[in-house]
Amino acid sequence: MSEVFLITGANRGIGLAVTKVLLSQGDKVFAACREPEKADELKALQKSHSGALELVPLEVVSDASIAEAVKAVSAKTRRLDVVFNNAGIQAQPYNAHLEQVELSKMRDSFEVNTLGPLRVSRAFLPLLRNAANPRIANMTSGLASLSGKNEGAFYPYGVSKAGLNMLTRTMAFDLQAEKIVVVCLDPGWVKTDMGGPNAPLKPEESATAIAKTLKGLTMKQTSLFLYNDGNPLNW
Ligand SMILES: NC(=O)c1ccc[n+]([C@@H]2O[C@H](COP(=O)([O-])OP(=O)(O)OC[C@H]3O[C@@H](n4cnc5c(N)ncnc54)[C@H](OP(=O)(O)O)[C@@H]3O)[C@@H](O)[C@H]2O)c1
Repeated sequence: MSEVFLITGANRGIGLAVTKVLLSQGDKVFAACREPEKADELKALQKSHSGALELVPLEVVSDASIAEAVKAVSAKTRRLDVVFNNAGIQAQPYNAHLEQVELSKMRDSFEVNTLGPLRVSRAFLPLLRNAANPRIANMTSGLASLSGKNEGAFYPYGVSKAGLNMLTRTMAFDLQAEKIVVVCLDPGWVKTDMGGPNAPLKPEESATAIAKTLKGLTMKQTSLFLYNDGNPLNW
């Protein structure tokens, strides 16, 4: 069955790859990105998937931008089956020591990686509520695992994504009575601008697994931390 997705950060990397997989499977995608006019790959895809792909301007740190995005999406659909909070940043240098790490980078990472999904998820709840099996997936990282933490580094990224993990569980309990599934997903280590050239997974490999997982999510998985293939991970 064809489903309706909203994906943030859909102009490149894993977000773009998931968009491509879903379009190839006949789903409808609202591809949200900061500068749709510069999103050449999405614009090309739009030509070959007329009606199935909508480009939506969305900056996850801006309430005003999100409100505009809600208006634009609501004008084209009455329901969203899945909100995929994929947009994220990794501050550099990733290995800054405790004494060097910049608090401004901690704050920026928190704004995008933790508060971004909070803002986007609650703004799109009215459209999710019109779906039969509404799902929210927050893109986290293996680097957010507390039990798996065994080195220094990744202060802004790890702390903000660990915050996202707690946000996921908190939202999951808030939305449980409405049967809205909320999970966080680790895509694996993926060759993108963020993951770098040494990553073992191609974006399309991770994206194929993620698309299957997003489509199959049920309330049995709500509040869990999942790998791209849907298998649960340790917090
Ligand atoms: N690649 C990996 O190995 C890996 C591993 C674990 C988790 N992840 C997570 O997976 C997600 C996607 O990562 P990726 O590897 O595809 O990264 P990427 O290639 O760097 O893409 C990041 C995306 O997020 C968007 N974005 C950043 N800040 C934004 C903001 N303020 N508002 C809206 N969009 C914003 C970017 O938009 P612009 O083009 O406008 O900058 C871009 O579309 C991230 O959440 C990342 O933390 C990735």
